[in-house]
Amino acid sequence: MKFNEIIIILKRLYKEHVRRYLKRILLAMSLSILVAGCTAATAWLLDPAVKKIFIEKDKTFAWLIPLGIFLTFTTKGISLYFARMNIIKVGSRIGGELQNKIAYNILHADIKTLENRHSGKFISNIFYDCGQVTHLVSTGVLNIVKDSFSLIALVSLMFYQNWKLASFAVFMMPLALLLAKSLGKRIGKVQGEASEKSGILTVFIMEILKAAKMIRIHQKEKAEVINSKKAIHETVEKNIKIASIMVRATPVMEALTGFMIAGFIFYSGKLISTGELQINNFFSFLAAMMLAYQPIRSLATINMLIHQGTTASKRIFDVIDTFIETKNDPTLPSLKIKNCDIKFNNVSFIYLNTKEKAIRNINLDIAGGTMTAFVGHSGAGKSTIINLLPRFYEAQNGNISIDNQDIHNINLDSLRKNISLVSQDVILFDDTVRANIAYANSEASEKEILEACDFAAATEFINKLPKGFETSIGENGVRVSGGQKQRISIARAILKKSPIILLDEATSSLDAESEEIVQNAISNLVKNKTTLVIAHRLSTIRSANQIYVLKNGSIIDSGNHDFLIKNSTEYESLYKKQLK
Ligand SMILES: Nc1ncnc2c1ncn2[C@@H]1O[C@H](COP(=O)(O)OP(=O)(O)OP(=O)(O)O)[C@@H](O)[C@H]1O
Ligand SMILES: [Mg+2]
Repeated sequence: MKFNEIIIILKRLYKEHVRRYLKRILLAMSLSILVAGCTAATAWLLDPAVKKIFIEKDKTFAWLIPLGIFLTFTTKGISLYFARMNIIKVGSRIGGELQNKIAYNILHADIKTLENRHSGKFISNIFYDCGQVTHLVSTGVLNIVKDSFSLIALVSLMFYQNWKLASFAVFMMPLALLLAKSLGKRIGKVQGEASEKSGILTVFIMEILKAAKMIRIHQKEKAEVINSKKAIHETVEKNIKIASIMVRATPVMEALTGFMIAGFIFYSGKLISTGELQINNFFSFLAAMMLAYQPIRSLATINMLIHQGTTASKRIFDVIDTFIETKNDPTLPSLKIKNCDIKFNNVSFIYLNTKEKAIRNINLDIAGGTMTAFVGHSGAGKSTIINLLPRFYEAQNGNISIDNQDIHNINLDSLRKNISLVSQDVILFDDTVRANIAYANSEASEKEILEACDFAAATEFINKLPKGFETSIGENGVRVSGGQKQRISIARAILKKSPIILLDEATSSLDAESEEIVQNAISNLVKNKTTLVIAHRLSTIRSANQIYVLKNGSIIDSGNHDFLIKNSTEYESLYKKQLK
């Protein structure tokens, strides 16, 4: 990353997250200046210690100086403790704020944005990248102040003790800084690669967990073990690379220090022999120089820390800044339902990164309070039509209206509030049956929940579950059957009591008997409601007021069952092949 890019990111990080903690940070900084002062004080104390105790053999100083040394160390320890505590709090909170922003973005992003990026990448942002930023704030900010002030204090002390020796030592320092700069650059690059590898590993682990059964039935355990080893190996290697660049600073620094001390002893030998340097100044100077080693080393790695933190921040900001097309604009008027007539006017839609339109020039005229069915081969565009109504996707052409109100000119909340959906892929949370159903309406009474379950023909099986309504159904409902999952999701849709109901293959996993019960329930439910339904089964479609036959994204025929069976060859063939 370029220098000005780093500055831009750090500025933004400061403005949006760090600034509000300024008081706490300033407190931590003041404390760390105290720490720096204590470090220099311990080195300085050696001067009177040697002079008064060893050379002049003063009795009072014999206990005064050890006490002084004890007190400076204690003050240093306590100040460092509070400084660290404060800055750790700030760093962790900022990490949390960024995680919150990513979570917010995930919850509000357009469906197409989410579909375009693997969920594992978001997880990697949340854990890996936010961790890096926390590290930057909590370690970086404190160390910069503590170490630069320690260095300034120690170097001043060195000049105070003997300016000739000090000039000699200071001359060596730019070498260390040069070294730090080049390491910082390299670490930024490797860091980016490491984050990417960590993302890939997360993705991989998520997939092998999801595909547990598929892996076993295809006997791919061995192959997947090889893949997992590869993914893990790559992250391990990247981490080793980062660590090795980090520690690469050590041998160079050690050699540099050794060189400095050797030169220093040689030179001070000369100064002592000419009487320009006293033995007490020598010891104090030596201590200061030794103590300066730690802050120099730490400052040499701070550059890397900044690189790591800013590259991670950049990845986080990229996610946070993703444009959200379908925003809820509360200033727009709310949807007012009268008859609940739905119109599609010349609607076409193409998914991201696909060549062909999923639906083209769709015109629908759905009368409120009726049931409309969509039939057609797999991939014909049925689900796409249904997904456009709650604005999961935005149609590129044409417009959709409910009671003559364009769905783009009303606020999103009021639109979605009026729509219930049972989607093709049943989505359940790792929670109890009750919580899953009540998700539609957290204020629903016990009676309403039971009623919804009765409608969905779900009460009987729920009561047979080990803890009834309080049974936890596992991740995406692994502990209940496919048909039971569907019934839970139907009950949830019913509980929402919305005037528009979208059913996408809602009863596909049910046996004939349950389906009949659910079907009856649905026909009760959909009375006076506008229902759009996709089903392969005849019983559902037969009772529909209007049926649209879709082929390759276009409507080719429409009418009721009796009409279509006589007039539509496509419908007739679908009916014969699969509707039964
Ligand atoms: N998220 C997506 N991204 C890209 N293309 C998609 C996406 N979802 C569907 N498609 C494509 O859009 C077309 C219509 O899909 P759609 O899901 O509407 O079909 P469908 O009629 O519901 O089929 P099925 O009966 O199998 O559910 C298909 O060609 C499909 O490949
Ligand atoms: Mg579908």
